[in-house]
Amino acid sequence: MKQIIVQFGGTGDLAQKKLYPAYQSLLSKGYEFHIIALGRRYSDKASFQKEMVNPEARELLEKLDYVQYDMAEPESTVRIVERIEELIDCDASIELIYYIALQPNLYEDAIHQIQTIDSQFTCTLSKKIVVEKPFGFDAESAARYNKILSLAFKDEEIYRIDHYLGKEFMQNLLIMRFHNDIIRSIWNNRTIESIQIVFDETHGVDQRLGFYEKIGVVRDTIQNHILQIVTYLTMSEPASFTSEDIAIEKVKVLRSIKPINEFRLGRYESIGSTRGHAVETPTYAALKLYVNTFYYAGIPIYIRTGKMQARAVSQIYVKFKNMTRSVVNDDSIHENSVIINIHPELTIDISMNLKEPNTSWKSRPVKFRFNHADTFGVNTPEAYEQIIEKILKSDKSLFPSIREIYESWRIVEPMLQEGQEIEIYPARSLPRFASRMIEKDGIIWYTDSAAAKET
Ligand SMILES: NC(=O)c1ccc[n+]([C@@H]2O[C@H](COP(=O)([O-])OP(=O)(O)OC[C@H]3O[C@@H](n4cnc5c(N)ncnc54)[C@H](OP(=O)(O)O)[C@@H]3O)[C@@H](O)[C@H]2O)c1
Repeated sequence: MKQIIVQFGGTGDLAQKKLYPAYQSLLSKGYEFHIIALGRRYSDKASFQKEMVNPEARELLEKLDYVQYDMAEPESTVRIVERIEELIDCDASIELIYYIALQPNLYEDAIHQIQTIDSQFTCTLSKKIVVEKPFGFDAESAARYNKILSLAFKDEEIYRIDHYLGKEFMQNLLIMRFHNDIIRSIWNNRTIESIQIVFDETHGVDQRLGFYEKIGVVRDTIQNHILQIVTYLTMSEPASFTSEDIAIEKVKVLRSIKPINEFRLGRYESIGSTRGHAVETPTYAALKLYVNTFYYAGIPIYIRTGKMQARAVSQIYVKFKNMTRSVVNDDSIHENSVIINIHPELTIDISMNLKEPNTSWKSRPVKFRFNHADTFGVNTPEAYEQIIEKILKSDKSLFPSIREIYESWRIVEPMLQEGQEIEIYPARSLPRFASRMIEKDGIIWYTDSAAAKET
């Protein structure tokens, strides 16, 4: 089958940094597809390719076409139809993949224009539509987008992207939990005391201010990536690793989470404010939630994520209950834990107490480490490569279902209310509320502890 990707937002940051390298890698591995990139800023293919694509990406340059296209001028869809028609042969089997990578406020218009484009072909074409996250601004707009999409596409033809599902650490969470008897038997509320999820970025909004201003941290990461991580950490074992079976378990988790009521939002102090470029939207959030299913109820899950932090940290910390302390009557005994570090490299540590040499029955925590790069090498495909490969193969196992998306919007809804208090924090510092929230429960962020710094 001949596959043609029609890339809306083909001149954007995502296309340049992630999609084109992923296309190049897949083409060099023998996949065969064409890409028609769409954008406003270049007038022709040569200038587009020169600015947007690595000149060494030989296979990509051969297959990557460009059409100047402005959504405000619906007649430019004619050029897209013409270009597609030049590539198709009605006797062959053809699949069109419309990939929307635009600011979310343009999605509705883009979907309408895709319907117009799609209705022009006389051949029978199979089709897919790919939509970047966040899917909607809230539950209401997500339902509206979905309704419009479903006028032209069946649900199995719709791929809603959350690229975290293409990341190795996410897939490893499921494999670690469900391919290991020892982990399976301890992964529940009888043994787990609390979970911490930290995603701190060092950079600010940078050149993406216009985009981010309409989005903010809740829509950018919490509604999608963070809640997907929560589902992977707490879902029950799926009947299989197919998209349908995984979605069933993820939806159960999300439906058990109440709308978040323990949270605080922050915004970093904008240095550019005098030039009129101040960030107005929340750039940091800390929150606590519970998954109210039989095996996970009662485990507090502490989450913090946002921009302009001193250190880039992407870490999941699972702390186990410490019965040993009482059993051996020794308060110095450390808890066991599983620590998943995602950045700068993927490692999984299991922390256990073992005897310290030259002592009389004294123990010390020791980490057993899996390092992904040391074990499997550094050439693991990037998340987007895995995601696009699945789209080409019509495998939906790495895509959230629409029910997950609706439930996620319901959960974060209180965080999206207008008029919330937003604490200003100095750049490169943790907002005070993030520490206060966890310290009031008698714990600290593992990532800031001395233990975290020892490897
Ligand atoms: N950037 C990332 O790292 C990243 C990561 C994950 C997900 N995403 C998602 O990807 C999507 C796009 O993000 P981005 O960072 O690539 O945004 P971006 O850099 O702002 O790019 C926006 C794209 O939309 C095009 N566009 C804007 N208005 C248009 C119009 N009226 N007609 C036609 N095209 C128009 C722009 O074309 P011109 O500039 O040529 O006009 C450009 O190609 C978002 O949904 C975002 O959440 C991005």
